Amino acid sequence: MKEISSVGVALDHSARMERYYRLHAKIYDATRWSFLFGRKTIIQQVAAITQPVTILEIGCGTGKNLLTLAQTFPQAQLIGLDISESMLRIAAKNLGARLGSVELLHRAYDRPLYPEPRFDLILCSYSLSMINPDWQKIIEYAKADLNPGGFMAVVDFHDSTVPLFKQWMRVNHVRMEGHLLPALANTFQPQHLETPPAYGGLWKYFLFIGANG
Ligand SMILES: C[S@@+](CC[C@H](N)C(=O)[O-])C[C@H]1O[C@@H](n2cnc3c(N)ncnc32)[C@H](O)[C@@H]1O
Repeated sequence: MKEISSVGVALDHSARMERYYRLHAKIYDATRWSFLFGRKTIIQQVAAITQPVTILEIGCGTGKNLLTLAQTFPQAQLIGLDISESMLRIAAKNLGARLGSVELLHRAYDRPLYPEPRFDLILCSYSLSMINPDWQKIIEYAKADLNPGGFMAVVDFHDSTVPLFKQWMRVNHVRMEGHLLPALANTFQPQHLETPPAYGGLWKYFLFIGANG
């Protein structure tokens, strides 16, 4: 169902995201540490498996993961892509001097970035659960952008047994129905997969690393 703006116009995904993040970008870094778990861990887990040289983050938001990636893989070429200008503005500030070596792209991931595969690693951190209904297409585009033998790393919400909580997350544009992990495990060869509980089991999140085989 399409969200309707205050002037009665149906909002597409891009407009919905920008409307949401125009406000949330300002409080994002101060608040998200308390519930977007596993973001540093997934990058450490990738580093234990591979040393990527070309890296894309889809939905890079305020650039927190790009900073961690730059520190973990200092030789890598990094691209962060996001549909929200408000989030990218904060990312540019957060990256500061590193902005010279990290490319930020303002666009939707609505097709592969290049005609040929180019990335050793693609990271989706809490972005796939927000890309509705097109999350499955994003997985396909990422597969097309990944080099053979490259890795797809995803950390995101998995599921909750509490309907009210899921509904609240829906209001915040997050779909949390255990739908991502099976699709990822069918598309990439799983190298690492876990579903830790958050807040005593109010929800589970997942960390997935898969090889493009
Ligand atoms: C919850 S934030 C995650 C940001 C960051 N990856 C992190 O871990 O903090 C989700 C991000 O995905 C972006 N996003 C949503 N749909 C997108 C799309 N179709 N293409 C690119 N970015 C998108 C949003 O603008 C937002 O910045």
